[in-house]
Amino acid sequence: MFALMLTSSITTVLLMVTSAALAWVAYEIYSQNKRRSKEIAVDGLLEPPTPVRIPIIGHLHLMGGYEVPYQAFSFLGKKYGDIVKLQLGNVKCVVVNGQKNIKEALVTKGHHFDSRPNFQRYQQLFSGNKENSLAFCDWSDTQKTRRDMLKAHTFPRAFTNNFSSLESLISSGTRSATSEIKPGEVTHLKPIILKHCANIFLSHFCSKHFSTTDENFSEMVENFDEIFYEVNQGYAADFLPFLMPFHRKNLERMNLLAHKIRRFVEDEVVEDRFDDLDVESEPNDYLESLIRNVRGGETPSLPWDTALFALEDILGGHSAVGNFLVKVFAFLVNEPDVQRKIQKEIDEVVGGDREVTIGDRPRMPYTEATVYEAIRLIASPIVPRVANQDSSIDGYRIENGTVLFLNNYDLSMSDQLWEQPGKFLPERFVKEGRLIKPEHFLPFGGGRRSCMGYKMVQLVAFGILGGFLQNFTVLPVDNETYRVPIGSLALTKDTFKFRFARR
Ligand code: HEM
Ligand SMILES: *[C@@H]1O[C@H](CO)[C@@H](O)[C@H](O)[C@H]1NC(C)=O
Ligand SMILES: *[C@@H]1O[C@H](CO)[C@@H](O)[C@H](O)[C@H]1NC(C)=O
Ligand SMILES: *[C@@H]1O[C@H](CO)[C@@H](O)[C@H](O)[C@H]1NC(C)=O
Ligand SMILES: *[C@@H]1O[C@H](CO)[C@@H](O)[C@H](O)[C@H]1NC(C)=O
Ligand SMILES: *[C@@H]1O[C@H](CO)[C@@H](O)[C@H](O)[C@H]1NC(C)=O
Repeated sequence: MFALMLTSSITTVLLMVTSAALAWVAYEIYSQNKRRSKEIAVDGLLEPPTPVRIPIIGHLHLMGGYEVPYQAFSFLGKKYGDIVKLQLGNVKCVVVNGQKNIKEALVTKGHHFDSRPNFQRYQQLFSGNKENSLAFCDWSDTQKTRRDMLKAHTFPRAFTNNFSSLESLISSGTRSATSEIKPGEVTHLKPIILKHCANIFLSHFCSKHFSTTDENFSEMVENFDEIFYEVNQGYAADFLPFLMPFHRKNLERMNLLAHKIRRFVEDEVVEDRFDDLDVESEPNDYLESLIRNVRGGETPSLPWDTALFALEDILGGHSAVGNFLVKVFAFLVNEPDVQRKIQKEIDEVVGGDREVTIGDRPRMPYTEATVYEAIRLIASPIVPRVANQDSSIDGYRIENGTVLFLNNYDLSMSDQLWEQPGKFLPERFVKEGRLIKPEHFLPFGGGRRSCMGYKMVQLVAFGILGGFLQNFTVLPVDNETYRVPIGSLALTKDTFKFRFARR
């Protein structure tokens, strides 16, 4: 649920100034770097090409001037070749462009590139240890256990009991959300969507449900959203640790919010279940699987603290789905034709006598394709990987410890791979009445560190979108602009107001 950008606009400006001041030094290094780029060493591997570098910041200045850093990666790929070596501050990086090379990194050599960057910020956000985090930890037996344990819950198989219980949770969540909509009135959608997504997640993973007027619950939802926004921001300080002091206050705030979330989870979600659970019985939800693992039985078992972090990470997935859905509505407000086509599909497949449910997905490819199309256009990055050993991609040497940026921005947005990539056209994902996913479309990464939540995204987004459009058409509010920010899943707190017209 946590994606990552590189540099925020303010820090970019700061960097541009610094880099201008330092640019003169670059000239003398120029000739030296150029000589190195294409030597073939004894192991037969090529050194990846690398642009001219500036002292201290290395190549960070090359990330400036783009809406998302991944556009810089595409530019560098065109200029230097698919594999480009960069020094970003004190961090050794390689940019990987192209479907074939990205697949090599994710799948063929996935076990060489299964670590995550060791940014100080990640350590601080997770109680001083990034290994507490599902998304930012390195690969380990613990991570394997955590992922295995999650599977049954985040990937419920169609037509099992677990699936139908999620189906009814999504339906009732959607019904409660739509019941808060006052037709014709200006609606702040984000808080409504986030709360109901949170309840869907809490009931699915922990069998807990809260009243939307419960203040502790509302605060918890807001706290998650704020942290979600924060981890989706990129900091130059990730690459230039001497800038970390500038972020101290903000990180202290994040720690306070994380602490409050922990208290809510312990007091109001877990409550007495840790002690009360009968570990011999089948687990009824993810929380019970975690407790069972901690209290023994299976090996290797997790410490309770680690389990709580994992639980919070997964509950936090509701922020990803909620923010994503708000973006879907912001796309649709400008696409009345797409809305009409979804509504036509709903009317044909479901009719007006019952509500859309996630069981309708296989028969509603256009609605599903709309979810894909929104994910494509948001172009959120694959969380950076790190090499755990010396390796190579496409014959280019990758040293142990190198951070890999896999440029899926290009895979989602290139005009070589998509017709009219800038347009919102769900039909690109439908062939002969069926949903198709092109092989180069990798919004959830792949291999052993792939997204654990993509099925939840698809199911919850489909259910809520279908339920809303069955009863409403989304309309713009006067003077509101609906430019959906790309390159990150997060949205600022009060983005986008809408009007909903009853159909
Ligand atoms: C539209 C929403 C989402 C997008 C686009 C997305 C995308 C991604 C991507 C690209 C990665 C990195 C994959 C890789 O390195 O190969 C990732 C990792 C992850 N995602 Fe998602 N995600 C979304 C929502 C969610 C949700 C809702 C959850 C939780 C229920 C979730 C849980 C995770 C976890 C736990 C990881 C880390 C896995 C690991 O490092 O082993 N994601 N996601
Ligand atoms: C749509 O409206 C109908 C009729 O008022 C209602 O029964 C149904 O619950 C609504 N659907 C959702 C998802 O709220
Ligand atoms: C909210 O949290 C406070 C302090 O953590 C607690 O005393 C109170 O009972 C909670 N309120 C509800 C409605 O659970
Ligand atoms: C259903 O969920 C439970 C945990 O709640 C899990 O133990 C079980 O394996 C799941 N069943 C299937 C068919 O996935
Ligand atoms: C790669 O680097 C890490 C961290 O520096 C080190 O612990 C590990 O042993 C190295 N792996 C290999 C195969 O050299
Ligand atoms: C929208 O902007 C126009 C012109 O700037 C202004 O006259 C109008 O009152 C605004 N409408 C709303 C609802 O704010």
